[in-house]
This record gives sequence, structure tokens and C-alpha cells, in this order.
Amino acid sequence: MRCFLCGRVYNINEWVYRCEVCDYPLEVQYDYKQISSLLNKSELIKNHQYNIWRYRELLPPMNKIVSMDEGWTPFIKNERLNEKLRMNNLFIKDETRNPTYSFKDRGSSVGISKALDIGAKFVACASTGNMATSLAAYAAKAGIGCVILIPPNTPLEKLIHTSIYSPFVISVNLPYPQLYKLVINLSVNYGLYVVQSDSPMRIEGQKTASFEICEQLNWNVPDKILIPTSSGGNISAYWKGFKEFYELGLINKLPQLIAIQAEGCSPIVESFKKGDNKVQPFDKPQTIAHSISNPDPPSGLRVLKILNESKGFAESVSDDEMLKAQILLAKYTGIFAEPAGAASIAGLIKLIEDGRIEKDETVVCVVTGSGLKDVKSALSRINKPYEANSVNELKQILTKL
Ligand SMILES: Cc1ncc(COP(=O)(O)O)c(C=O)c1O
Ligand SMILES: [Zn+2]
Repeated sequence: MRCFLCGRVYNINEWVYRCEVCDYPLEVQYDYKQISSLLNKSELIKNHQYNIWRYRELLPPMNKIVSMDEGWTPFIKNERLNEKLRMNNLFIKDETRNPTYSFKDRGSSVGISKALDIGAKFVACASTGNMATSLAAYAAKAGIGCVILIPPNTPLEKLIHTSIYSPFVISVNLPYPQLYKLVINLSVNYGLYVVQSDSPMRIEGQKTASFEICEQLNWNVPDKILIPTSSGGNISAYWKGFKEFYELGLINKLPQLIAIQAEGCSPIVESFKKGDNKVQPFDKPQTIAHSISNPDPPSGLRVLKILNESKGFAESVSDDEMLKAQILLAKYTGIFAEPAGAASIAGLIKLIEDGRIEKDETVVCVVTGSGLKDVKSALSRINKPYEANSVNELKQILTKL
């Protein structure tokens, strides 16, 4: 694993997640020359495994893989949605279709496999919901212990879906950024192998979404990709994936990445717009999109670098825009996303309106998590049922069809 700020190298089996010198998140490095002799398009296509391990030459080597068939999620071109938004080449990468209904399963599969490999008895993360659920599910599957630190106000649906796997859940009355640091600090002393938002193993799993997009686009690369962003782990993973395929000569260009944040918690957007070279923590975060509400993103600096390198940018959307996008997505595609998951669609609408996305561009919106994770937020926007107390009343209502 390597630190991209100072170049320091760490062994892949070390219980270390960030550079001990400059606190920058570590990334796994491969011998790309050697891999390119093992991996080519026809080889990949011959390999009929349709999950993240399809790309195992580009994942850390494992003795035993813990998988629930995560990845190879649908890549959808919905004609009605394209027409509605006056786009010609809009695609949705539907990450709600993972085993625990969010993109987090990709990273949990790699992280838990690694934990088994190095003989960890426990894995741990601090999470606002989706990652906790995913890690707990994969730990259960692997038969390994799991410690989850959650901040107060985690939505009940997420808490139930996490607790069903019987992990050790501790609600700690501290803000999420502090929990993130706390887990890393406690890791070695308490035997907790950390697999959280931007840990190197999680990035490895999550980068496979980029590989899939290239294959699903018949080895083409989108012009723009909109990604709901909080800690910055996932967008970093997407960039790593595209860069690796580029390095291997499997694709011949790189996409522009667009980070979408909630207006009520948009530290990366603010820093990007100001042209800062570091991300200032956001004061008093307030948004219905809990999953993207980290006010002090641990990969913030990395995201700023990526946005510049990819010639992308960052934009924020309001709660109202996310709720509207959530309904639109459901109505036109059948996909039920949580508000954070629909942030990419909300961002798209905004960027089409102000002319920053043009209709012939190939654009991908990543829908990161399912609406079943946070049903209450949609309550204010759905139609109430009609009420019929008799067959006659029912018939009367039907005349309104
Ligand atoms: C549904 C959803 N979307 C987006 C994100 C943001 O991902 P990241 O924190 O890696 O930037 C999360 C993170 O938990 C999430 O759960
Ligand atoms: Zn360093």
C-alpha cells in the first residue's frame, strides 16, 4: 500500500489504513506490467463470474474469498427518463441491487476476505448506516466478529438491518468524524481490523464499479459520472478503477468525475468552489440525506485532487431537490433510492438546467443506496391512499382514473 503524498510504502497485511507520516489515505498498488500480461478483454469475457471477483487480477490476492455475489449491478439506459430529462445517453448504475442494497458490499467483500487472510478476530467500522449493515452481513457470512460504532440519529431501518446480523453495535455520543478516527486509533490495541469508508480494502472493492461501467458500455468510457459523496471514499475508488483500466490499455480515455453533496453538508463543494487545497470541516451539518452527511471528509483532500485531475467538479443539491429526484427516479425507472442515493439524479437535473451537462454527452448517475434503508424520508412526498368503505365508493374512485 502506498501513500500518494509522501510515497511511503506499507505492507498490504499491515493493520494500517492511513499514512503514519502525513495521515493521507493509503492505496493498494499493483505491478501493472505483470497484470497486463494476465488480463485482456477476451480473457475477462471468458471469465463468466459476474461479481466483483471477475476482476480478481486487479484485487488483492486472497486465500479465501467471502462473497455474496456483490457487484455486476444493472447499468440502465431508461428511455423514458432520457426523454423526460432531454438526454440522449443517460445511464444509471444501480447500486441498490447489491446484497445489502448499497455499493458498500463491494468493499465489504474485499475487506472481510482480507480480515480472514490476516487472522483478524474482529472487523470494525464507524458508520452512519449502510456500511455498518454491509460489514455486519459479510462478517456474519464469514463467521468473524464485528464491532460497529454508530452516531446517534442513525435511521431505525438501518439500525435494524445491521442488528439482525448480531454484531456488537455501540451507539457513541460523538460526531461521526471523531468516530472514524477513534476506530483507527483503537484498531491495534483491541484487535479490530478496520474496514471503513476510505480504508484501502474498501477502495479496492468499490473500484470494480468503474470496471463494470467500461464493460457495460462495451469498453467505452462515459464523459461524466455523478457520484453522491460524503467521506470521499467511493469517488476515490471510481477514479482508481478508471485509472487502472487506462494504465492497462483497456480504455483510451478517462471520465470527468462530479461529486454531488447535500447542500446542508457540502464541505468538499465549498472547498472546491473556493479553489482551496484542503477541505475545511462543515459547520452544523443538516440534511435528510444521512448517508452523505460527514462534515469532515477523511478523503477530502484526495477528492479535490481527483476532481482537478479528472477535470471534474463538485456541486450541491438541496433536500427538496433530492426528494424530488427520488420520486422522479422511482416513477420513471422503478428504482427506489434513498435520498442520498438519488443525489446524483438531483445533481444531474441541476447541471442540465444550468448547461453544464449537454444532451449528447454520455452521463452516468450512480444510485448508491436503496430507499428501503430510510423509508420515512419519502413519507412526506408520496400520495396518500384513497379510502373506500364500500364497493360503490371503490367504483366511484375508479371513475377518476
Ligand atoms: C447511499 C450512500 N451514498 C453515498 C455515500 C457516500 O460515499 P463516501 O462516503 O464513500 O463518499 C454513502 C456513504 O455511506 C452512502 O451510504
Ligand atoms: Zn505519507
